[in-house]
Amino acid sequence: MKTLIDKKIDEKKQGNVLTIENQIVGTKKLYIESYGCQMNFSDSEIVASILNKENYSTTRDISEADLVFVNTCSIREKAEQTVRKRLEVYNSIKKSINPKMVVGVLGCMAERLKEKFLEEEKLVDIVVGPDAYRDLPNLIKEVEDGRKAVNVFLSKEETYADIKPVRMSGNGVTAFVSITRGCDNMCTFCVVPYTRGRERSRNPKSIVQECKDLFLDGYREVTLLGQNVDSYLWYGGGPKKDFKNATAEQKKNAINFSNLLEMVAKVNNKLRIRFSTSNPQDMTDDVIEIMAKYDNICNYIHLPVQSGSSRILKLMNRGYNRDEYIALVDRIKNKIPDCAISMDMITGFCTENDDDHNDTISLMKYVKYDYGYMFKYSERPNTAAEKKFEDDVPEEIKQKRLVEVINLQQKQSLENNKKRLNKTYEVLIEGLSKRSKNHYYGRTTHNCVVVFEKSSHKVGDYVNVIINDCTAGTLKGKII
Ligand code: 5AD
Ligand code: SF4
Repeated sequence: MKTLIDKKIDEKKQGNVLTIENQIVGTKKLYIESYGCQMNFSDSEIVASILNKENYSTTRDISEADLVFVNTCSIREKAEQTVRKRLEVYNSIKKSINPKMVVGVLGCMAERLKEKFLEEEKLVDIVVGPDAYRDLPNLIKEVEDGRKAVNVFLSKEETYADIKPVRMSGNGVTAFVSITRGCDNMCTFCVVPYTRGRERSRNPKSIVQECKDLFLDGYREVTLLGQNVDSYLWYGGGPKKDFKNATAEQKKNAINFSNLLEMVAKVNNKLRIRFSTSNPQDMTDDVIEIMAKYDNICNYIHLPVQSGSSRILKLMNRGYNRDEYIALVDRIKNKIPDCAISMDMITGFCTENDDDHNDTISLMKYVKYDYGYMFKYSERPNTAAEKKFEDDVPEEIKQKRLVEVINLQQKQSLENNKKRLNKTYEVLIEGLSKRSKNHYYGRTTHNCVVVFEKSSHKVGDYVNVIINDCTAGTLKGKII
């Protein structure tokens, strides 16, 4: 007879369920919504784990929740507006269905606005920044005692290394593993260094252990996460900027990102490794070498460029110019000829003119990115750009340039995908296709999504698929 766990594993392999794993059923219910970068989704899993020990289990039904959290993003104004709209929705649910629910704001917006949140949004009871989640049980008690609670303390050490995340809404095959927190790069447009604090790295032993546990639990792909993974540096704990004060012994035994990648790659050759995000100024040739050495490190790099103009890159304080970025791309393609590269791009940064924009277009044509995330510049309060430069590119020009960049990327994505026709790739099956229950979807090493007809193979298996059709976003194929 099958136990409940056997049944759950069977269902997971068939791709029938979205699992919420390794949480003890609690009597109180937590509903948590996440916005923004992958790091926020990963942090929400840490929050769920901390609160699971306080007798909360997660629910997907807000109307039954005792506690409602929204994990927020401040990167662009639009992201903040989305959160405010959600708060209005929670408010109406609280009034009409669930008057006792407690509402908390977590993450970057909590850190940016601090106590102001309580004044602006009367509904909010708890405000917690990204480094203060361990304090949540105390903060909840404060609210239960009738007070509003805030903790926006930014830590130099916190990495939540010992906390095993509750894996929510995953497919049971691919998981995110956080390796660094914060960012020291101070790109002038970016709010992250203010909302997430100083850069620090997580103990490599705990990272490797988490990856081993994930493999044993059936996971077959991990993405190592950080605002700037190439800057990873473990010398016993503490902020990256204090490495210069480390002892000779600590310096000798320090682990950098290429060392970490190799340690994780050795966990099991059937565990795929990805990482994000790479900052061009910090990416070393050692990392490229290690990628080339291990087959299970995927041939894919997310390498945000932000602009193709050296003049704009300087104003953005990106730490590289156009030629240096191109030279890095050339080195990657020389070592790993079929390495996919994706980018982030911003249009309409302060003073950007037509020549700068044309530099962006020509850089995109040179690199032929496989994928892109493209944005209009959105001025953020208290960033260096807000203080030093005028946000002087008119909205309609920002928009026009954005459309041009998106259209070019679409065209190039399709061209890149067409080059994959009639070729065979190893694909890791991640689940059932959203459009058809008779089809699976998975990814190639290049992070391309592939859809193909279901077979006797299970979710989590590797299969070889020959590509016979494509769109700009998806490859279609047949298992061979
Ligand atoms: N305006 C527009 N886009 C931004 N990004 C970061 N800050 C801003 C901003 N102020 C983009 C960058 C970054 C990605 C995560 O978000 O491209 O790489
Ligand atoms: Fe922001 Fe730059 Fe750090 Fe990325 S590298 S999080 S864009 S400051």
